[in-house]
This record gives sequence, C-alpha cells and structure tokens, in this order.
Amino acid sequence: MKSVFFGAVSATALIASVGHAEPQAEVLHWWTSGGEAKSVAVLQEEFAAQGGTWTDMPVAGGGGDAAMTALRARVLSGNAPTAVQLKGPAIQEWYEEGVLADISAVAEAQGWADVLPASIAGHMQCEGTWCAAPVNVHRVDWIWANADVLEANGIEMPNTWDEFNAAAEKLQAAGIIPLAHGGQSWQDATVFEAVALGVLGADGFRKAFVDLDMDTLKSDEMKAVFDQMRTMRGYVDDNFSGRDWNLATAMVMNGEAAFQIMGDWAKGEFMAAGKVPGEDFLCASVPGDGFLYNVDSFAMFTVDGDDKKAGQDLLAELIVGQNFQKVFNLNKGSIPARTDVSLDEFDSCAHLSAKDMTESSDNGSLLPSYAHGMALRGAQAGAITDVVTAHFNSDMSSDDAVNMLVDAVTNSM
Ligand code: BGC
Repeated sequence: MKSVFFGAVSATALIASVGHAEPQAEVLHWWTSGGEAKSVAVLQEEFAAQGGTWTDMPVAGGGGDAAMTALRARVLSGNAPTAVQLKGPAIQEWYEEGVLADISAVAEAQGWADVLPASIAGHMQCEGTWCAAPVNVHRVDWIWANADVLEANGIEMPNTWDEFNAAAEKLQAAGIIPLAHGGQSWQDATVFEAVALGVLGADGFRKAFVDLDMDTLKSDEMKAVFDQMRTMRGYVDDNFSGRDWNLATAMVMNGEAAFQIMGDWAKGEFMAAGKVPGEDFLCASVPGDGFLYNVDSFAMFTVDGDDKKAGQDLLAELIVGQNFQKVFNLNKGSIPARTDVSLDEFDSCAHLSAKDMTESSDNGSLLPSYAHGMALRGAQAGAITDVVTAHFNSDMSSDDAVNMLVDAVTNSM
C-alpha cells in the first residue's frame, strides 16, 4: 500500500489504528452531473490508490432531496451506507438519532481545527466530537452569463435587480430566454435566497432565514422579494418545469438563455464542457452584499466491520487532505474548505469567491444558505421552500405569500 503524507500523519498510519483491514466504503452522494461526476471521481481514485474498495451509491437529483430520502430508507432498514454526503444542521439531526460515527481521531491526528475556518469547523462538530468531514465551500449567490450573448446585446453584468430586470426585458425582446431555470423546488429556493440577500441585505437575510424572525418574514421587504420572484417568473421559458439544473446551465452555454442564478457547481459544468471563465461565460455575485455559503461534507454512519471502519477513517483523511481539496474543487467549481491550499491554479471566479468570503466574514455578512440546508433544520427549511415554490408556480400575491410564510414557519416549529 502506498503511503501518502498529509502533514504530520499518513493515511497508512491511521489505517493501522484499525488493524490491517482492507478499507471498504459504500458512499451515498448525489453528484451525477458531468462536473460533479468528474469531481467525485477524484475521491474514488485516491481511495483506490490507498487500497480502498469503493461501492458507489449515486442518487441523482440536484440539491440532494432524493438522496436524503434514500438515506432515510437505508437507515430505517438498519443498513446505513458507510459514508454519506450530508451537510449543515442535518449532520446534527442524524447525530441526535445516534447513528453517526465519531471521526475525532482522524480530525485530531490531521489537525482539522488548525486548517479549517471556525465557521466551517462548527458545522462538522457534534457535542464536541467531529462528526463530518468538509469537502469545499460552494457559494450560492452567483449569476452566470453567456459572454457572447451579453456582448451581442450590449448588456453588462447587472449590479442591481433593476438592472437585471432591464437586461432581461431587452434580451426577451431580442428572442433570448433571459433566465435559464429548472422548476424544481430546490432551484426555486436557490433563486429566492439569492434575491432575498440582495433585497433584505445581510442583516435582514440573517433575521429571516437564520433567526426565523417573524417581523422580517412578514415585512414589506419580504413582499418585495416575492415581487421580484414574480417578475423573474416572466423571464423563464415555458418548458422550465422539472428541468434539471445542469440542463439549465447548458442553455446558458449554448446561448439559448443569457443568465442562470445558481451555486458554483454550475461553474463545474462550464469547466467540464471546456468553457473558459471571462471568455465564454461570466460570473458575478448577485446584486447585494454578502456571501451565501454551502459546505459539502461527508458524515460516516455507524457500521459493523473493521474494513468499513478503516474505509471511514481513510475517507475522512483523504477528504481533508490538501491534494484532494485542491483537485476536487478545481473540478467542482467550489473553493477548498482548508485555508492552507494554494489557489494559484484556480480561476478568476474562485479567486472572487475566496476574496468575498474573507471580506464577508470580516464584516458579518458571511451567511449560511437556507436553500442548501446550511441555515435551518429540515422542517423549517422545507416549510419555507414549499411557500416559495407555491408562489412561483401560481399567481399568488406577495401579501398572501408572506402570510403563508409566517404560518408555514410557525407550524414547522
Ligand atoms: C450541493 C452541490 C451539488 C448541487 C447540485 C448542492 O446542494 O451542495 O454539491 O453540486 O447541490 O446537485
């Protein structure tokens, strides 16, 4: 077996802690698009290079809703996967059910506390133990655009929602779909929270989607968020319903549509298709200040067998390893969770992300994404998303939407 060194401790040293078992892992994840598959292959390859046997359990479906349903069924039948793509408060929810393995030994041997920002480390800990390993930092509040389409129509990346609307009207008049969107509830929620960050500002976003402050949820500003969602409903094409997010990205790539509002896993798709940032496609944060983060991570479930425990330790160690954090994130569109990985090989969008993340952390506008399960427990996030989707797919007024929002959140608590 090869020995790969990660700072003070090597993979083989940790595997030795569970005897000479051959590492095994059944890994549940929802990385099935082109860019995602290329990314997860990096972990599969590193695992195999260390003698591990990987059993893949991909569950297609952007945002992971289908994967989480599959996970629940597996755990309820007493047959949990070895490692699961899991994030945000869902990690603590599963921990409370008593089904997560403690990976503190790996975390301590590898010094995770020293190489991860405190905001990320906090999500990975359960009552003082380490219960998940972070892969990356995705930013959610991005606008992607087809560079040629914008240039041909004399349009700049918008700095305000009014500018966005003016650009969209111009594009529509020219026969171009302004906004590539897939009508799936998590995609509606992704656009909604990006609009909310701009309209409510960072403090308002925190009050609404972290603190669940009722006054903010029913405020005039929240009505303005729904107003903008209604306007944007007019900018998507007739076939948006049910479309996968990566197909929406493809519409921007091929010039059928101008913009997509989506996390930077969309950049993974552009890159996997050989597109060049700044030339073929453009990235900009959505109008408004702040940074909505979405940290992918893996939690290990309690399983029997030294081979699986060895697999869990090895996976945890590889995931936080410097090489994996670099190569995976170059493919995935995100930036490393570790602070000590050089960004020299990363593109301009990743550099912007890293800069904005530092600035927003310093000025208090670094915020967890509610749409991607970082801010709230499942019941509350689901209650909000139900309202967002119901509004987007009907002619519901903004007044009715905020009333429904307050009721839904109240009933979910
Ligand atoms: C995940 C990403 C994934 C995206 C689309 C997000 O919730 O964090 O890793 O690429 O969903 O499936």
